[in-house]
Amino acid sequence: VPTASGKTLIAELCLVKSILENQKRCLYIAPLKALASEKYKDFKKRLEPLGIQVGLAIGDADTPTKNLGNYHIIIATAEKVDSLLRSKATWLIHSLSVVVLDEIHFIDDGTRGPTLEILTARIKQLNPDIQVLALSATIGNAQQLAGWLKAELVSGSWRPIPLKEGVYYNQRITFDKAGTRLISEEESEDVNMLTIDTLRGKGQVLIFVNSRRSTQAVARNLCHSVTKILAPEERQKLMALSKKIAGTQADVAKMSRQLADCIQHGVAFHHAGLTSSQRELIEENFKINLIKAISSTPTLAAGVNLPARRAIIRDCKRFESGLGSAYIPTSEYKQCAGRAGRPQYDPFGEAVLIAKSLSEQETLFDRFIHSPPEPVTSKLANPSALRMHILASIAGGYVNDINAMFEFIKHTFLYYQRQHIDLLSLISDIFEFLSKEKFIERSGMRYFATAFGAQTSRLYIDPVTAIVIRNGLTLMEKRAEFSVVGMMHLLTCTPDCPTMNVGKKDLEELEKYASGAFDELVLTPQNTPELDDYFTYLATMKTTWLLHHWIEEEKEEAICDKFNVGPGDIFRHAEAVQWLLYASTTMAELFRQKQLTSGLNDLRNRIRYGVKEELLDIVKLRGVGRIRSRFLFDHGFKRIQDLKNTSADFLANVPSIGKALAKDLIKQANEKPTSSQSLSADLGKELADLV
Ligand SMILES: Nc1ncnc2c1ncn2[C@@H]1O[C@H](COP(=O)(O)OP(=O)(O)OP(=O)(O)O)[C@@H](O)[C@H]1O
Ligand SMILES: [Mg+2]
Repeated sequence: VPTASGKTLIAELCLVKSILENQKRCLYIAPLKALASEKYKDFKKRLEPLGIQVGLAIGDADTPTKNLGNYHIIIATAEKVDSLLRSKATWLIHSLSVVVLDEIHFIDDGTRGPTLEILTARIKQLNPDIQVLALSATIGNAQQLAGWLKAELVSGSWRPIPLKEGVYYNQRITFDKAGTRLISEEESEDVNMLTIDTLRGKGQVLIFVNSRRSTQAVARNLCHSVTKILAPEERQKLMALSKKIAGTQADVAKMSRQLADCIQHGVAFHHAGLTSSQRELIEENFKINLIKAISSTPTLAAGVNLPARRAIIRDCKRFESGLGSAYIPTSEYKQCAGRAGRPQYDPFGEAVLIAKSLSEQETLFDRFIHSPPEPVTSKLANPSALRMHILASIAGGYVNDINAMFEFIKHTFLYYQRQHIDLLSLISDIFEFLSKEKFIERSGMRYFATAFGAQTSRLYIDPVTAIVIRNGLTLMEKRAEFSVVGMMHLLTCTPDCPTMNVGKKDLEELEKYASGAFDELVLTPQNTPELDDYFTYLATMKTTWLLHHWIEEEKEEAICDKFNVGPGDIFRHAEAVQWLLYASTTMAELFRQKQLTSGLNDLRNRIRYGVKEELLDIVKLRGVGRIRSRFLFDHGFKRIQDLKNTSADFLANVPSIGKALAKDLIKQANEKPTSSQSLSADLGKELADLV
């Protein structure tokens, strides 16, 4: 059924009906955290006045897991529910009447698909009576997917708000079956012409491009055009918003400053390098028509409701490794196009592709507008995904032998699609691998998880990550001293750590850093075959180097410039490594490597806050981050206890502190000392909640 035709709305009605009739619980699964958060806000606003309680479980800053039982509707990501099932929360599935799998085409996604698929099969196995609603606008083989789910296919082409699709070339949009439109704006760029044309008609615009850099360039170019049509009061509000986005701190990354500059002119860019709060602010202010145009990577595309009258798909090609520059999938185009013309915002919508030549115009019509979306295929055969889920199945007590695992896999889309793979031997190989690496052990005819295997599964890490950590900790234990660089590098060598791309221009500096750090490394190309590939090795070194700058208190701005990343990227790397350090600490405890735990804890806190070791005490105060803790330290407040007997007036003079915070800090310092000092225990709990 097309985008914006009310799929999610129908799901919501189905949940409400079921709650009223069955008094049971419902689960709504979204593929991305951002989408889950949007639906949470939406559902909560509408349903709580009716007495329906809505909870969110996406893995951070959310409802503690133990309270989930209190909600009628739980909105979650597949990863979160999967991890709940690993801690044997099967009560959750038994208490459900309906599960909604929104944007089910994500089953085709190499990273998220396997979890979604396994979870769906598991839910149906645990509770065969459950009603399943799987929704998507962009599946070529919907009948096949319905067959797998034993569901009835509902398909249609009706859209409450018409979406006109067309291709722009040479100052004219040619719409499919809907005539043409001459664009006569006096602008130098095509994107600007198409944007201003819509803004003059009081509509808003989304522009999809293929790289982060392009989102920024397009937004910058749009500023001088969009600013002309702003009303004086809008300018004022935008100025305030711009200040809010830039933040008040002294250290503002160039990307945030650029964003703040664009916002003043009613324009924003949106990509994964921004922090999630920046992205939320952009979306909120676009929804109230303060921001007029957003240029974005396609990450903004799935399922969100935004008031875009025109979606401009500027880049319909993207660089794919091994393929060079290739057309994006039709389904991706359709998701981007479908952001335009949403019923609660606009009377009509337009999706416009941009052609570079007359012949390309034809190609774009054929390939995107007149073509159906591609079929989705299971990605579960990926050995890394299968390894993780087989271990989880054994550790969760769901299966105990190869045959039972095979029987379970028969309920997956992978099996249903009959891809040409010998699944039984693939499963046997994985059992053998898990057994050899001591994740599982055999007792009679049955396999059980070892403590190491159970821990790996609970931590939600790839078994290969667990092996790298286990072997690395053993090597680290033999050293006289704990090495911060060695440990960070070890973790960048795990498949669960995102690594950075290395370009030719990085080589010289990286080689220098690598040779300086070499003596500290635990894993080297000599003892780790995977690091034999020079670029892989340098990618791990580059990521280590970024983290190293972060914990040495290098300015965020300088790190972003040096590594050509955004603040959101620093956060993403730091978050991943923080989690892996938590995993390492629990592994060190498991293997009784006591001398490593304090080094691991300290490093985890340094990564969490981006501070040197000397700030680890003072940074524990609430309301104090890497910048304020440095100011406090440099003004003589080196430990929390140094604040106990100071005066608020004196403390308020420390830069970035101020009177109100000064009072609060003194109060905190005089509170029972243990509460702020038990940070590592708190962090452990907090991180455990993430799983
Ligand atoms: N038939 C309709 N009547 C009134 N409002 C509708 C109708 N269909 C959808 N809406 C409203 O339009 C908006 C978009 O609907 P919804 O998000 O359910 O679309 P969708 O099919 O899930 O789109 P997508 O494929 O992008 O996820 C929602 O606010 C919804 O309440
Ligand atoms: Mg939807």
